[in-house]
Amino acid sequence: MTNRSVIVTGSTGFVAGHLIEQLVREGYNVTGIDLKKKLQPPTHWTEFTEDLRNFEKIRSILEKVKPDIVFHLAAQTSVAVSSREPVADVVHNVEVSVGLAQIITDLETPRLVFTSTGGAMYGEESSPPYTERTPENPKSIYGVSKLAVENYLRVVTNGSNTQISTIRPANIYGPEQSHLGEAGVVAIFGALMLANKDVTIFGTGEDTRDYIFVDDIVAILIKAATEDPGLYLAGTGVETSTNQIFNTLKKITGYDKLPVYQPARSGDVARSSLSSKKAQQLWGWKPEIDLEDGLTKTVTWLRDTI
Ligand SMILES: NC(=O)c1ccc[n+]([C@@H]2O[C@H](COP(=O)([O-])OP(=O)(O)OC[C@H]3O[C@@H](n4cnc5c(N)ncnc54)[C@H](O)[C@@H]3O)[C@@H](O)[C@H]2O)c1
Repeated sequence: MTNRSVIVTGSTGFVAGHLIEQLVREGYNVTGIDLKKKLQPPTHWTEFTEDLRNFEKIRSILEKVKPDIVFHLAAQTSVAVSSREPVADVVHNVEVSVGLAQIITDLETPRLVFTSTGGAMYGEESSPPYTERTPENPKSIYGVSKLAVENYLRVVTNGSNTQISTIRPANIYGPEQSHLGEAGVVAIFGALMLANKDVTIFGTGEDTRDYIFVDDIVAILIKAATEDPGLYLAGTGVETSTNQIFNTLKKITGYDKLPVYQPARSGDVARSSLSSKKAQQLWGWKPEIDLEDGLTKTVTWLRDTI
């Protein structure tokens, strides 16, 4: 057990909810910051409803909490939204992160863990599985913002006492992911199938992604806070097509319709998977949950909840 103090930004979000549960279980004192309030008020951690752009307020929270670690998860998280509203993407990804990094550096917060993107970081000129040495070439505004933040964090904290760990996750899925937005194909397809509604696939459905269960991402984020800092990819190394996700969810839910195909969206990449050999070798981390198990757990949650 630990009594270390942590701040989690984006605390109302999907991944942060799971991360906070685990941190509380491990005895951390957790403070969350998010634009939006959680539906159920938290019982074992403290919630601040604040826009990270309110830098004075954020500084005062950090001065009070004196965190040992800041997990920075708050973001605009949809590739499709970033294509339609690039400025909003830059604001909620880049502007807030640079402001937060300045505050963290001034206050000498020991560790910042940043959740970047692995799925939207690479271009088609490289073949998956990508590694930490693959040249970055994001195709979407979202991917460009995440890469910019990685660079800003390095430069803003240069020469300070703050150490940075950056995780580039693959496509994360699991219980509590919103099925109402435009990101999170598993939640969206699962919810539509359970409601017996049409499911739209953009493109041919043969595009691939690397799907990783949320508990595996929580485990690597905690490693990122406690092990040697650096840049780490977090994926399974397996490419799964959208059609395969559709068919597996169809089997689990008992859905019997065909998908509706529509033209591919701009910013979406054709193929992606991430090698996690570095995290495995240096941190002893590897994904534990296999895709079918993870999809079944997600559908069970959707069934109980929506
Ligand atoms: N879900 C995935 O597949 C995936 C994959 C790779 C990386 N990531 C990254 O992991 C992190 C968490 O993803 P998620 O799926 O939980 O996202 P999410 O959309 O569920 O949560 C993001 C949270 O950030 C908050 N937020 C946005 N702008 C803010 C601001 N200005 N001030 C305060 N709060 C703000 C939102 O209100 C939201 O609750 C994000 O940084 C995302 O880019 C997610």
